[in-house]
Amino acid sequence: MFENLKEQPADKILMLMKMFADDPRERKIDLGVGVYRNAQGVTPVMRAVKSAERTLWEEQTTKSYTGLIGDPAFGDAMIGLVLGNAVPRETVAAAATPGGTGAVRQALELIRMANPQARIWVSDPTWPNHLSILNYLKMETVPYRYFDAETRGVDFTGMMEDLGRAAPGDVVLLHGCCHNPTGANLNMVEWQAVIDLLNQRGLMPMIDIAYQGFGDGLEEDAAATRLVASSVPECLIAASCSKNFGIYRERTGILMAVAQDAARQPVNQGTLAFLNRQNYSFPPDHGARLVTMILNDDALRAEWTAELEEMRTGMLAIRQQLADELQRLTGSDRFAFLAQHRGMFSRLGTTPEMVDKLRTDYGIYMVGDSRMNIAGLNAQTVPILARAIVDAGI
Ligand code: LMR
Repeated sequence: MFENLKEQPADKILMLMKMFADDPRERKIDLGVGVYRNAQGVTPVMRAVKSAERTLWEEQTTKSYTGLIGDPAFGDAMIGLVLGNAVPRETVAAAATPGGTGAVRQALELIRMANPQARIWVSDPTWPNHLSILNYLKMETVPYRYFDAETRGVDFTGMMEDLGRAAPGDVVLLHGCCHNPTGANLNMVEWQAVIDLLNQRGLMPMIDIAYQGFGDGLEEDAAATRLVASSVPECLIAASCSKNFGIYRERTGILMAVAQDAARQPVNQGTLAFLNRQNYSFPPDHGARLVTMILNDDALRAEWTAELEEMRTGMLAIRQQLADELQRLTGSDRFAFLAQHRGMFSRLGTTPEMVDKLRTDYGIYMVGDSRMNIAGLNAQTVPILARAIVDAGI
């Protein structure tokens, strides 16, 4: 049987991780995979997470199963974090998932169950794994214009034109904040226009929010998701705790289904539980429990929020430093967009050949579409990157 298996295409981001690890050069710089690093290049265990883990170690008396949707307290805490009071709680079904990727996968499976004809509209570009999962599930995918290669901002006119061709029942995959891979985001006026279009055309939004707290702040980054959820009849939200709690390997995420009215909620909730059971039974608990402890304890929550703010403002400072340095070296504002982008990533907007050149000649690793992880930089490496960008002729 095994002879029927074919080699699978390598994931672009994970492949880069390996290439970086294998590069013997000492001064190499990793701007590849989306993992936060502090000024020392370390991905720390956040202080509140350490405290919660200590308490958990002392107080946890069993590791028996939770429930198919995980601990409902995790759902409540995450609904609060992501949705605030935007929608009545009794309209929301939620299930813990293995990371944000697990939530994306379950959301797509739910869509396929509910409406096999639905086409999924994805931003061009989007996170490569969105496309890979969609392809694996054999779901029809349609790209909508998103990134303006000239301005490095959002091609809003193109996006609206393309979504204007979507058919009722289609699903529009949107990044709640901190667009991955571009770093270019809609403003709130544009979000409202997208919502109006969704409602006019009977399209369902599916929001992937993996970087809440990495852009303009915890509340600010949730504003678009909340506006969408409160303005459309139904939506799906896949949220990740990997980045904002720094618990990447714990695989902590959640899928929420927001219904038009509370009467729909039980079937949605049951469907999420069913899908969990089919795919992996019980979702992982450790990370979800830490998140719940942190969000439900005033002191831990304050500690977590403070550290997240340090991370966020640190990334903003790096963005500004890089934009300033490139302004100084080029005497132009060509790279000013780097300070305007939000989140962990910016798409530099150069060719794959230039990306190869940066890697080969300068030991600077970024994804082939020129996505850079801003958190992979620090005050010392920003000038090195800026010099390489200019010397390479980008
Ligand atoms: C990324 O985009 O680099 C992260 O979301 C990590 C991943 O799983 O690809």
